[in-house]
Amino acid sequence: MEVYRDLAGLRAALSEARAGGRDVALVPTMGALHAGHIALVEAARRPGTLVVASIFVNPKQFGANEDLSRYPRKEVSDIAMLTDAGCDLLWLPPVEQMYPAGFATNVSVSGVSEGWDGAARPGHFDGVATVVAKLFNQVRPTRAYFGEKDFQQLAVIRRMVADLDFDIEITGVPTQREDDGLALSSRNVYLLPEERQKAVALPRALGVAARAVLAGTDPAKALADATATLTAAGFTVDYVALVDAETLQSDPTPGQRRQLLAAARLGNTRLIDNLAVDPL
Ligand code: PAF
Repeated sequence: MEVYRDLAGLRAALSEARAGGRDVALVPTMGALHAGHIALVEAARRPGTLVVASIFVNPKQFGANEDLSRYPRKEVSDIAMLTDAGCDLLWLPPVEQMYPAGFATNVSVSGVSEGWDGAARPGHFDGVATVVAKLFNQVRPTRAYFGEKDFQQLAVIRRMVADLDFDIEITGVPTQREDDGLALSSRNVYLLPEERQKAVALPRALGVAARAVLAGTDPAKALADATATLTAAGFTVDYVALVDAETLQSDPTPGQRRQLLAAARLGNTRLIDNLAVDPL
């Protein structure tokens, strides 16, 4: 796997690959890779495709009191994992390359960015949309892959791609989970052993709520029950919501696919998860 840290080198390598007839697929990440990221690389791999992963811990998507400085950085093991997964090229830009002095542009996607994590983490999705737009312009992929674990992020990126005419096919890859159901996340390393044991209550509560809604329970009651279960398990709940899977508006229109979204804190760790309610 080739590793590039400067934009000129990256662009030259990509031009050469395109001239050789390869198309380019992008897997954007913030590193501290786990099996969920590797599933994205595997989904991106196809004959004739150059698979590019990026690792950039994007300061613009962290709030002032969030975990930017302690976010796990594991460059050596990340490179080994990507190489083993068959990734062809790694884009590892330094922060000065992404945000040089004088950088003044913000990409903001209204509507779908505003509720849920957008409300709990002001500015977060502007940071995500801005860096993903930059990565798209730097790499110019024909396809890009994102985890469904960050369900609202995926909806924001789909909206941005449609609105700004990026000619890029966006694929959401199903959430990868531990054996007990906890969604894989780079932030799971923050969990203390007793918190890790409690964390499984989050996917379980979503499963119970999804089954209740499908069985005809009033959604408000199912959401209140999930919140109570999580609180009893030791979580501080930011939100548990039932939304339209495309617009992320609450009170989904009948006939539209519904998704449960949740964010809750255990000690110093904020976990998010989501679950489709309606069978495909
Ligand atoms: O999901 C992530 O890891 C990040 O939000 C992304 C999409 C790489 C943008 O920084």
